[in-house]
Amino acid sequence: MSRFLTAAACVAIAASFTVDARAAYNPAAGKAVYDASCGMCHNTGMMSAPKIGVKADWTARMGQGLDKMVAKSIAGFNTMPAKGGNAKLTNQQVGDAVAYMVQQGK
Ligand code: HEC
Repeated sequence: MSRFLTAAACVAIAASFTVDARAAYNPAAGKAVYDASCGMCHNTGMMSAPKIGVKADWTARMGQGLDKMVAKSIAGFNTMPAKGGNAKLTNQQVGDAVAYMVQQGK
């Protein structure tokens, strides 16, 4: 029973996560932002950045929800620079790029 509940909770989290991503951010638009401003670290995992397309690098991070990941990407945290070091990006562009990264990591 408890195993069933855990599985159900995971499905619920995954479902709400997908809805959030679709509602607020555009992963297709995020690709260009990613290529220009984020790939230099996230293509290679430089400075232990989570690597694009590597599912294991994203699974745990996705548990906190897309909005939180976007907020941290805008503000910066640890060695991840605010907006990837490109202050000209809008919050929406950063969100689009995060949505793209998460989509690639699924
Ligand atoms: C200078 C290197 C660098 C650049 C450029 C960079 N990142 Fe990061 N990023 C990192 C590192 C390092 C981490 C891991 C930080 C940690 O977990 O301590 C990270 C983590 C992340 C995370 C995971 C956040 C979380 O909550 O776990 C996201 C999302 C992210 N970056 C998005 C972006 C986006 C979007 C861009 C471009 C706008 C970008 N990054 C550009 C180095 C970079």
